Amino acid sequence: MATFIVMLGPPGVGKGTQAKTLAEKTGLAHVSSGDLFREHIKNQTELGKLAKSYLDRGDLVPDDVTIGMIRERLGRVDCRVGAILDGFPRTTVQAEALETMLKDFDGQVDKVPYITAAESILVERASGRLTCRANGHIYHQKFNPPAKEGICDEDGSQLYQREDDKVETVTNRIRVYIEQTMPLVDHYRRGGRLIEIDGSQSVERVTEELLESLEQTGK
Ligand code: AP5
Ligand code: MG
Repeated sequence: MATFIVMLGPPGVGKGTQAKTLAEKTGLAHVSSGDLFREHIKNQTELGKLAKSYLDRGDLVPDDVTIGMIRERLGRVDCRVGAILDGFPRTTVQAEALETMLKDFDGQVDKVPYITAAESILVERASGRLTCRANGHIYHQKFNPPAKEGICDEDGSQLYQREDDKVETVTNRIRVYIEQTMPLVDHYRRGGRLIEIDGSQSVERVTEELLESLEQTGK
């Protein structure tokens, strides 16, 4: 049976940073809904045109569009063993849709790491973030700067600041998270799958805690 890990946590807490490392260590695919939307926007697809205004405001893209995009992604061959889901599900409707689609893919949500940090930390992390144009590698001006300014260490592409990382937009994303995504914390806690992680620690320490807790729980 395929293994799916859902990374839960507010904007800017470090889900993407940790998901990349976890994917490398576990061999599971890394599926980031935000990266997929940004890819569609870059390629100016119909989906990208629809999604752009939502991302720019920091609002959620409608459930049906998001669920369709993820279903297509999870159907690809690299997800046969499972995936680290980063940014999906984000609403109760999406969580229910995930359960249904995983039955088709002979998989299940195994564990749900829930990473948290104070709002001031989230804003500081998001507003200093630098993202790589080619592959979405993640840096931070202060906490994780690239070796050469403005250039990705891994693929040499340009680093840019995400449009939705302006302080006002980050604040809206946090509000949207509290209203629409926080209910999932209880949903997964009730199912006994939640692993709470203190995201205010260093990147390395958070990775260690994540790996330890996934191992302890048999993953
Ligand atoms: P998405 O791209 O998913 O954004 P997000 O959830 O708001 O999360 P972020 O990517 O901002 O943060 P992160 O937790 O991944 O942190 P990161 O590792 O980068 O979504 C964007 C938009 O797409 C949404 O607003 C919505 O419009 C749409 N969307 C996406 N999914 C959707 C869905 N399911 N339904 C509907 N709409 C959807 O780290 C942040 C920064 O901090 C980096 O600079 C990093 O270097 C640094 N950092 C990380 N960890 C640490 C640490 N421990 N110490 C110091 N610095 C750290
Ligand atoms: Mg992210």
